[in-house]
Amino acid sequence: MTKKLTAPAIKARKGGEKLTMITAYDEPSARIADRAGADMILVGDSVANVVLGRDATLAMSVDEMVYHTAAVMTAEPNALVVGDMPWLSYHTTPKEAVHNAGRLIREGGAGSVKLEGGRKRLDVVNAVLDAEIPVMGHLGLTPQSVHAMGGYRVQGKQAAAAYELITDAKALAEAGVFAIVLEGVPDVVAEMVTDEVAVPTIGIGAGVHCDGQVLVFHDVLGLHDKRTAKFVRQYANLADTAVDALERFFADVRSGEFPGEAETYHMPDESAEILRELSEEAGGLRGAGIPTDSFLADEAMEQ
Ligand code: KIV
Repeated sequence: MTKKLTAPAIKARKGGEKLTMITAYDEPSARIADRAGADMILVGDSVANVVLGRDATLAMSVDEMVYHTAAVMTAEPNALVVGDMPWLSYHTTPKEAVHNAGRLIREGGAGSVKLEGGRKRLDVVNAVLDAEIPVMGHLGLTPQSVHAMGGYRVQGKQAAAAYELITDAKALAEAGVFAIVLEGVPDVVAEMVTDEVAVPTIGIGAGVHCDGQVLVFHDVLGLHDKRTAKFVRQYANLADTAVDALERFFADVRSGEFPGEAETYHMPDESAEILRELSEEAGGLRGAGIPTDSFLADEAMEQ
């Protein structure tokens, strides 16, 4: 039996075998991720983009993130589940941040939370850590800052901005986060952060030097046909596989090939005979006052 992974166990993997993280938003995707051996499952607010068809992650509420986290937890994954804190759930007061992080843990069942930002969010990070909730940081291209950044742009391309990012990463690590996601930053910057902080860095569009990598489930599996970022590698085209499967199902329905013998319930011959006689005597079952739907369904389900 594989052991359940915890935030301290992930932190201890710094510099060791590369860590793997993938998003999941429901029970089937969490089961798939876990069967494939993910170290961490991120219930990301990217659910807004890839499941709910929204342009940005900003629309997600704490209720919705709790809902998806709880769905993932029903898979009872061995991976550490990271619940993403949505926009405005930790931007007002540390007290509110602790309350919302606590909901992802208590109601969602996650083993940790992730929130975006560096020194600006240190008071919140400290408060959540103080409530004994493991925190994963997220720096670089932070999608919840899309308007402030002027779009989804690679961050830390200039020396000064990169220096700020490295300083943020050090501050988060010193505060006690167990890992830091680095999104959309030049590889050299991610390498410097990885060398300088004592916690694992998990890259997404941050080059090969991070301690681990994360991608979005639907991007990796090709579950949509939308444009993806340069950093995405698509390992399957399940959208096309699904369309093909559904086309074959619909063709079988239209031709009468489905359902076949194996997908059909039967009733005992003698019951069918009685039914036919009843029907003939009464001039049809409805005329006999027999409740046809429940009668037929009950008999069939016994087979
Ligand atoms: O929400 C998400 O999927 C994320 C990853 C891109 C890191 O935050």
